[in-house]
Amino acid sequence: MQERLQELQAEALQKVAEASELKELNDIRVAYLGKKGPITEVLRGMGKLSAEERPKMGALVNVVREEIASKIEEKQQVLEETAVHAKLAVEKIDVTLPGRPVNKGNHHPLTRVIEEVEDLFIGMGYTVAEGPEVETDFYNFEALNLPKSHPARDMQDSFYITEETLMRTHTSPVQARTMEKHKGQGPVKIICPGKVYRRDNDDATHSHQFMQIEGLVIDENISMSDLKGTLEVFAKQVFGKEREIRLRPSFFPFTEPSVEIDISCKICGGKGCSVCKGTGWIEVLGGGIVHPNVLEMAGFDSKKYSGFAFGIGVERIAMLKYGVDDIRHFYTNDVRFLTQFNRHES
Ligand code: DAH
Repeated sequence: MQERLQELQAEALQKVAEASELKELNDIRVAYLGKKGPITEVLRGMGKLSAEERPKMGALVNVVREEIASKIEEKQQVLEETAVHAKLAVEKIDVTLPGRPVNKGNHHPLTRVIEEVEDLFIGMGYTVAEGPEVETDFYNFEALNLPKSHPARDMQDSFYITEETLMRTHTSPVQARTMEKHKGQGPVKIICPGKVYRRDNDDATHSHQFMQIEGLVIDENISMSDLKGTLEVFAKQVFGKEREIRLRPSFFPFTEPSVEIDISCKICGGKGCSVCKGTGWIEVLGGGIVHPNVLEMAGFDSKKYSGFAFGIGVERIAMLKYGVDDIRHFYTNDVRFLTQFNRHES
């Protein structure tokens, strides 16, 4: 029996020494020390021994088991360490390698224009106002001196949601909303950038959804020269000193008199191209002196107060400023187009 134990010990230790994987080691543990293993078998045979021999043999069995267990333990540590080293070797990270470049986004050209215009007007004491894109017929038209069935409504073909609500066709309703909030008390000095919607067919210069920046100033003694001076500052700031502007008489129901302001075409230098439709000029905004009806409807005394208003077409500005020949580029969002504006980052 003693011999058998020694044999088993030698055999087990040999296998432990040869084991090269943790799993193998575990198999050896189960095979030799497990309940169904040969050592347990030896223990079972102890009943046949004499009372003197039994404790000796019991002690020997324990020694053998401990020896095997401790060798397995030792080997396990060695194998675990080797495994960690192997893993570290494979997963080695060279922290000195240069990083992979991450594609960086940048502001959309229309956002840039809006922010530049906002900065300019904020610098002149204006605040930025907002209004809803889903607007009521009242604010979009009636409060702006465009009663129902007024023929000038045709100038702005709309997307109606119900009889009384529509996607706003311009940012001008924010004028009426802001005046209402001021409850007849001047001064008012706001700009309002935002999206507007028209039932237009999309082409190089038209889009069914585009952006405007509305401006409104109300105070005592405001005149056309205030409007002209303000827009001159705007044009020179946004387009540079070399750009020219011209004022043409026009008609808007909410202003009287009304003007349209054109800026000389930067793309063709005034010679005529597809963007300026051969005229050398691009209309960038409409404006005028706020109609007394509009002031009165919003609760302002038109004898005491007067004002000017204007609406800027953001896409036109961006097209001129960046030399873009088709308004649709702003909305198709081709990254090859958009990343060209990275270099304008300041
Ligand atoms: N709302 C006009 C449009 O979309 C633009 C405009 C013209 C706005 C004259 C104004 C204005 O505030 O005074 O065509």
